[in-house]
This record gives sequence, C-alpha cells and structure tokens, in this order.
Amino acid sequence: MSQPVQIAVVGSGYVGLVAAVCFAEMGHNVVCVDNDERKVAALRGGDTLIHENHLPELLERYRNRRVQFTTDLAEATRTSDAIFIAVGTPQSETGDADLSYVEAVASEIARSINGYKVIVEKSTVPVYTNEWIRRVIERNGVRREDFDVVSNPEFLREGTAVEDFLHPDRIVVGADSDRASAVLNAVYAPLTSGSYYEQKDIVPGCCSVQAPPALLNTSTKSAEIIKHASNAFLALKISFINAVSNLCEAADANVEQVARGIGLDSRIGPKFLRPGIGYGGSCFPKDVAAFRSVAEQMGVDFNLLSEVEKINVNQKKRFLSKVRSALWTLRGKKLAVLGLAFKGDTDDIRESPAIDLVEMLLAEGSSVVAYDPAAMKRAEEEIPASDRMRYAESIEDAARDADALLILTDWADFAKLDLQKLHTTLRYPIVIDGRNLYDPQQMVAHGFTYLSIGRPTVTPSRETHNALPGAVTVGA
Ligand code: UGA
Repeated sequence: MSQPVQIAVVGSGYVGLVAAVCFAEMGHNVVCVDNDERKVAALRGGDTLIHENHLPELLERYRNRRVQFTTDLAEATRTSDAIFIAVGTPQSETGDADLSYVEAVASEIARSINGYKVIVEKSTVPVYTNEWIRRVIERNGVRREDFDVVSNPEFLREGTAVEDFLHPDRIVVGADSDRASAVLNAVYAPLTSGSYYEQKDIVPGCCSVQAPPALLNTSTKSAEIIKHASNAFLALKISFINAVSNLCEAADANVEQVARGIGLDSRIGPKFLRPGIGYGGSCFPKDVAAFRSVAEQMGVDFNLLSEVEKINVNQKKRFLSKVRSALWTLRGKKLAVLGLAFKGDTDDIRESPAIDLVEMLLAEGSSVVAYDPAAMKRAEEEIPASDRMRYAESIEDAARDADALLILTDWADFAKLDLQKLHTTLRYPIVIDGRNLYDPQQMVAHGFTYLSIGRPTVTPSRETHNALPGAVTVGA
C-alpha cells in the first residue's frame, strides 16, 4: 500500500481543482490554494464552479476532509512535501505565455519554505520555466538543498479531465534530481502500481491492475517540451484533416471516408482526425502560439506551426462562406445556432470557434437564436442578448421559424435530433453542420438541404438551387 503524500495545489482552475480532488481520490492529503476568497468559499461549500464529469461527486466526498481549500499559500507550503503550481499562463500580446502568476507564486512559496520541498510545475509553460522558478526561489534566499523544481505536465481534456487524470495514457515526470523524482513517483504510485484500480467505486476508465499507466522519467526541459509538442501535434493533426476536407470539397470526395482510410494505418491512428470549424479552447490556440514563439526565440524555424494556425483561422471563414452559399445574403436572416462551447461536454467558451462564428454572423446582419446545454451563461457575458441575439430555452425554441440551422458544437444531443420534427419547426429545411454529426443520405431522405465539412452538399431534388458550387442532388 502506498504512503499518503502531503500535497499543496496552487490554483483551483480546471487543472488545479481536478488534480486536487484526484490526488485525494488516490489517498493523499491535499490543500488547494486560491487567492480568490469567493472561489475558496464556493469550493468549501461544494460548488465546483466548472462543468466537469465526476467532479461534483469527488468534491463532495473529499471537501473539507482530504481536500482543504484555503487562501493561505504560506501555511500550505509549510505543511506540504510537494507543491503543485497550477495557475493560469495566459497568452500575452506577442503570443508568449504570460508567466507572471507563476513567478508570483514561486516567490511566495520561497518565503515560506521550512524544509525540503518539491515544487512541481503543472501549468503549461515554455521550456526553461523550471530554471526561472529555481532562480526566483534561490533569489529569495532558499538554499539549493532545500528544494527541487520538477515538471509534471498535464494532458487532461476538458469534459473528461477526471477520467484522464486517473486513467492517463502516460505520466511524465521531468526531474533533474533522484530525490525529487522519488517524491513524484510516490505521488503517482497508487496509479502506477495498480493499487488504485483494485478498489471498489473508483472512477471508471481504461487503466486497470493488469494495465496500469506508464510513468516516464525525463529531464525537466524534455518534460516541458513534451507538453507543448503534444498539443501542437494534436492541433496539427486537426488542421491537416481540415485542409484535406477542403480538398475533398473541391474534388467532390468524402473526408469521413478519407479520415477513416488514413486513420486505419496504425502509424497514423484514427484520433483527432475529425474535420470541423477549427480547434478552440483554452489550450491549443494558446499553446501553438507559445510553442512557435519559444522556437523563434531560440532561433529555430517552426513555420509549420504558423500554417497550422492559418488553416485553423481559415476554417471558420470557409464555414461562413458555406452559410452564404446556402442562404445567399445573410442580412436579416434568422439563424438557429446549436452550440456555443468550444467542444461538447463543457461550458467553456474560451477561443470557441462557435462564438467567433456567431459574432461573424451578427456582423453580417443576421439574427441568431442560439442554444447550448451548458455554455449559454458564459456566452451571454461575451455576446449580450439583444434584438438580434437571443438565447433559446431548447433546441426546438432555437429552430422555430429559422431560415437555417447551424451546428457548431459536437454535443451528443445535437447528433440525436428528431429530424421529422425539425423539418416542420424550421422555416426552411436547411442544416449547415460544422461538426459532421449526420449522414448526408439520412438528411436528404428527411427532406433537408444539408451542408457539412468535406462532403458533398445534398439537397432534395425539388430544390432549385442545387447548381451552387459543391452542391449535388440526391434522389433526382
Ligand atoms: C487539449 C488536449 O487534448 C489535452 O491533452 C491537454 O491536456 C489540454 O488541451 C490542455 O493543454 O490543457 P482540450 O482543450 O480540453 O484538451 O480539448 P480537446 O478535446 O483536445 O479539443 C480541442 C479542440 O479541438 C476543440 O475545439 C475540438 O472541437 C477540436 N477538435 C478535436 C477537432 O476539431 N477535431 C478533432 O478531431 C479533435
């Protein structure tokens, strides 16, 4: 049985909060620190503040017991052996990550160190951040033998963050000393030894006693690069399939067939080959820009990443053209929009391509009635309701009398629409799907004109505008 470790987690955002409750679930004692008193009070009271599967149950089980919430970083530092920094690293104007929160936390930790501590960088940071943290701590008078700085990047996806934490593909520990590496290995021992998976009532996932996750020990710098390179590679995969989808549109091919055909090659793999309206979220756009910027600063030409970004921006513009190609002019059109979050299963709208598209549609003079199962409150802070922007109560409410329905987020519910009902609810049976949630044949069989990504447009034979670029008639 592994020994519990005394852990502090600084920051209670997506990564910090998930890490805190998951460490508790693994048997450790955790203090989660945030300088926002209202957040701390909410967390103590059991409000997760974010929409994340399994998080409410775990918070309920451990809050004020194995996970304490506090604003007191000094005390948390003194009582912990490992201190995980999980504060925000927003994008600065130049594309670099803004590391001022990380620096502020490092200085404060330094002032309270009272014995050997391992300071763990969990926020996504550029290579060399560990060295800066070490320097800041030394400058604050801490002896070199009293601390180590480790990089332990996180690969969590929003929506499945808890499952990803407890059933990871791999755990990366970048440490330059055996002592620090041993502490991190002890933190993750319940997972790597398989003992966590023996227990009852665990969060289900792909790891098991027989197949526990691997822990990869690396240098700190390699770990930092692994995080940025992983996100950049996934973004590249998405931009690649989006570029291929554009080619498929030009050639009247079907990108879903192409993605399947290439994804079956085990060297390529089927994941992250879903074409759409471009990647968004708080990670990919920021991390691709930061990785490009780090490379630039080090004199390394990484223009490939600029192309990845360019394709991503263009993907939204192409979708807007698609809407125009179906509706001709946009001024005065009433559009139903399904989805505002940057992907399904989250209420997060940061860098959401759906939000960008709604703004573009409003700028073109359309009226929008939008529905999202979780992200409407946040979206309304970004795009206030007005005479041309309404937040709907349901899918049906959004679709009522709309000139077309646009699908912008891949929520599971949006893939199960009652097509017969939708046909009568819409003013015109036109669906423009930015996430390829439907089979074109099924849509045309229900009488819809259906435009999607990288697949031929289908339209019922009685429609007269089927000669538009990219349009093919089915059933003629
Ligand atoms: C991403 C990574 O997947 C995580 O491994 C990483 O830990 C996290 O960033 C982070 O750095 O914190 P996340 O931003 O939650 O996680 O979302 P993803 O599921 O990766 O999706 C990102 C975007 O790509 C979404 O807009 C999604 O719709 C889009 N996407 C994803 C596609 O357009 N096509 C795909 O095939 C996959």
